[in-house]
Amino acid sequence: MLIKRIAKQIVDAEWVARIIEVMDRRSDNRMTELGMLSQAFEFTKINEVPGDYFEFGLWRGKTFGYAHRMKRRYGRHDMKLWGFDSFQGLPATEKHPDNIWYEGQFACTRPEFETILASRGIQSSEYELIEGFYSDSLNDVAHRRLSGRKAAVIYVDCDLYDSTVQVLDFIQSYVVNGSIICFDDFYNYKGDPEQGEQRALADFVRQETHLNFIPYLDYAPLGKSFICRLK
Ligand SMILES: C[S@@+](CC[C@H](N)C(=O)[O-])C[C@H]1O[C@@H](n2cnc3c(N)ncnc32)[C@H](O)[C@@H]1O
Repeated sequence: MLIKRIAKQIVDAEWVARIIEVMDRRSDNRMTELGMLSQAFEFTKINEVPGDYFEFGLWRGKTFGYAHRMKRRYGRHDMKLWGFDSFQGLPATEKHPDNIWYEGQFACTRPEFETILASRGIQSSEYELIEGFYSDSLNDVAHRRLSGRKAAVIYVDCDLYDSTVQVLDFIQSYVVNGSIICFDDFYNYKGDPEQGEQRALADFVRQETHLNFIPYLDYAPLGKSFICRLK
C-alpha cells in the first residue's frame, strides 16, 4: 500500500514531468506526443494562429499539463485550455481482434485530475473542463460555453472510433486556417485504416465538410497531426 502511494506520488510529481520533457527534447530520432505539442504551439505562434487549446481525452493530465507548459513557453497568454473527458474512462468499446481498449480504462475522477494538475502548479482557475461522455457533453450547452472561441491546437486522445466521430463533429465551428489537430492514436489497431481515429477522420473527410486536413507530422508511437485549412 505504502509502495503504491509512493509510486503514485512520484508519477504525479513535477520533477518527473520535467525529466520526461527534457528526455523528449533530447531524443533526436523520436518525437513523442510532448514534442508534437511543442511543435504545434510553435507553429501557431509563428503563424499567429488565434485560438485556444482543446484536449479530448485527459486521463491523468500528462498532455494537458504539458500544453499548459507550452502555452507559457510560447507566450500564448491569450490562450484558454479546455479539457473534455468523461472522468469515468473509456465508454463501451467494440469487439475487434486488434482492439486493445476496454470500458472504464483510464478512469480518473475530476477531483483526482485537479489534484494532479495542482501538484504540477496548475490551478483549476487556469483551465476549463467539460465533463461527461461526448455523446451527452458535446452539446448546445458546451457550444454556448465556447461561444466566440476558436481552437488553435486540438489534441484528440480519445482512442475510439465513436468518440473521435463525436469530437470531429463538435470542433468544426472552432477550427481556423492553421489550426493544428493531433490524433494521438492514429496508427492504433495495428494501423488498420478501417478502425479508430484513422477511420473517423477518413469518414469525416468523405462527408461534405468545409475543412481540409493537410498532413503535418507523424509522432511516436502512434500519432499523426494535420494542419487544418478552411475550404
Ligand atoms: C488515453 S486516455 C488520454 C490520455 C491523456 N491525454 C494523457 O496525457 O495521458 C483517453 C481518455 O479519453 C477519454 N474518453 C474516450 N472516449 C470518451 C468519450 N466518448 N467521452 C468522454 N471521454 C472519453 C477517457 O475517459 C480517457 O480519459
